Amino acid sequence: MRKNQFDYIAKIYDKLAYLVFGNKITYIQQRTFYRLPKEKKVLIIGGGTGKIIPYIEEQLQPNSLTFLDYSSTMIQLAQQVPYKGDIHYINDSYTSLFKQKETYDIIITNFFLDVLPSKALDTFVNDVNKLLNDNGYWVVSDFRIDPHPRKKLLHTSLHQLMVLFFKITANLENTQLPNYIQVIDATKKYKKRAIKYAYFDMMFTALYSKL
Ligand SMILES: C[S@@+](CC[C@H](N)C(=O)[O-])C[C@H]1O[C@@H](n2cnc3c(N)ncnc32)[C@H](O)[C@@H]1O
Repeated sequence: MRKNQFDYIAKIYDKLAYLVFGNKITYIQQRTFYRLPKEKKVLIIGGGTGKIIPYIEEQLQPNSLTFLDYSSTMIQLAQQVPYKGDIHYINDSYTSLFKQKETYDIIITNFFLDVLPSKALDTFVNDVNKLLNDNGYWVVSDFRIDPHPRKKLLHTSLHQLMVLFFKITANLENTQLPNYIQVIDATKKYKKRAIKYAYFDMMFTALYSKL
């Protein structure tokens, strides 16, 4: 199986995520949307089944929406999500974005960084800057491990279970859960505007603007 191949799991992905995290998994992804400007050019990378699309439509009212995912089954599911305007779907790897000249006002990467192994992660967090227009925003949601001993145990155990599950079902390449905020801040390319937590602080969403 190709690495990071979510095709086989796509149809049950949302149900499984809901089973483990309840509605927090959707709630966290839109926690900073109210701070974003409306009617902008929006890009979603690794958007999965597209369950975030209605929230984007309602809260961001994009002028243009591009939805990219590597999995063709995920793209097919996302294409069934009702949306009033046109969505430009791209069934390809995020790496294809760096070979074109399009830039965006708002980029959303929700639970996408955690599929990237360390080197790819470093490259991505540095290079996503090139896809952002001046005054552009980057919304990042993902998992984290809280330093508090009890939370750390819960977060580490749950993360290891998830890695094991996605290794079997999606041939997930990455097994690590770095501190994404530290990794992004170290680039010195973005200004952190807001950060919110959910699910016993195991999930975060951060809003960055381009520096
Ligand atoms: C953990 S899922 C998250 C899906 C969605 N954002 C959500 O929060 O429900 C990761 C998604 O990234 C996609 N993905 C994996 N590797 C990718 C790549 N190289 N380029 C683009 N998308 C990728 C997978 O197909 C999957 O839909």
